[in-house]
Amino acid sequence: MNGTVKSAGGGALAGRRIVLGVTGGIAAYKAAELCRLFVKAGATVRVVMTEAATRFIAPLTLQTLSGAPVALDLFDASQEAEIGHIRLADEADLLVVAPATADFIARMAAGMADDLLAAVVLATRAPVLLAPAMNVNMWTNPVTQANLTRLLGAGSGGRVTTVGPDRGELACGWIGAGRLIEPSEIAAEAARLLGAGGGDLAGRRVVVTAGATREPVDSVRFLGNRSSGKMGAALAEAAIARGAEVTLLAGPETPAVSGARRIDFETAADLERALAEHAPPADVVVMAAAVADFRPRAPAAGKLSRRTAGTEISLALEAVPDLLAGLARARRGGRPYLIGFAAETAGGDALAERALAKLREKRCDAIVANDVSARGIGFGADENEVTLLFGDGARHGIARAPKRTVADSLWSLLAARLPAQDAADA
Ligand code: CTP
Repeated sequence: MNGTVKSAGGGALAGRRIVLGVTGGIAAYKAAELCRLFVKAGATVRVVMTEAATRFIAPLTLQTLSGAPVALDLFDASQEAEIGHIRLADEADLLVVAPATADFIARMAAGMADDLLAAVVLATRAPVLLAPAMNVNMWTNPVTQANLTRLLGAGSGGRVTTVGPDRGELACGWIGAGRLIEPSEIAAEAARLLGAGGGDLAGRRVVVTAGATREPVDSVRFLGNRSSGKMGAALAEAAIARGAEVTLLAGPETPAVSGARRIDFETAADLERALAEHAPPADVVVMAAAVADFRPRAPAAGKLSRRTAGTEISLALEAVPDLLAGLARARRGGRPYLIGFAAETAGGDALAERALAKLREKRCDAIVANDVSARGIGFGADENEVTLLFGDGARHGIARAPKRTVADSLWSLLAARLPAQDAADA
């Protein structure tokens, strides 16, 4: 996952103004490295610290690294006179809060302006990138997740995004999600938001399939599944934000995604036809749709009536072709890059093993595995927790988070794996 910082290096952020907000968590010391990366990439950095942050890292450190006084106090007359909070908010091209504690996220979600950093974040019209870091139980607490969902939702106009957190050993002794993602990852995400390099999916044609198929039993009934299309929609939205040209093949109920070309499907056969048209010219196809494996062999023409059917009827089903495997068979020269989803009802190693078996069987390039039986994630939920696996065995766990955040984490990992654009176009 290293190396992505390249996009933030070499003056890539020259002339850009970043406000780096630091809140009070043990990971605050990593803000020093982040500040250094921003400065190295040519950005003008103004650091704003909360009172609690100053207990973890000395303002002098960040002042030295940023080359400018650190703003600390909303009510400090001399600081306000020199560069007031509204000017900080107005002049920033991007606000990055790293680490963003549960407390800060809560204050932000409540629209509070009770210290300088909260006031700057509330007043700015610039994009805000949060790098959450906290104890795993604080992170998974439904209140924290609800706060994030509120911030990331339509209410913020898509202005607030997150990067991380990572999973691993936490300073508090727990193991799980909540660790601040590496400063290099934050810097790369900041560069992407600032449009340095035009986004890591710029110029890519991406097809995302989302939602459930419906297979008619008769003219009013169907066999379906619980997929809501939210994960696919989040992937489409995140790909657009990263510069891709996106075609969304959308099952019923799939949320709207602005900026995507949308083609609706109902049955697996509809989806198969849409893929036959849209997959070959694409660079990437993401099969997030939950496609039926079986469908009624002979759907009844009208409405089946209980009066004529008697007390019991049986439904003959036939297998639906595996669309993803079909795309893999049909492609030439490894294009499009194929990403499958594996809906499993198991977690841990069994989840990864089954997903890897599907990846090999279907001959796709990567597969996103999730445990659809776990509560609060997967089908229908607003959050997800997934494992991304590649054919070479590389495996990345993505912590439970709103689906849009998970989508961004997935693209960060996937974008780095896509074949070079020139080679793909040859
Ligand atoms: N898929 C597909 N065509 C189908 C069924 C599934 O293209 N007829 C795709 C899905 O879009 C997903 C991947 O295959 O990207 C895995 O789907 P999943 O339902 O997890 O697996 P199945 O292949 O259906 O296997 P199983 O029923 O054993 O879980």
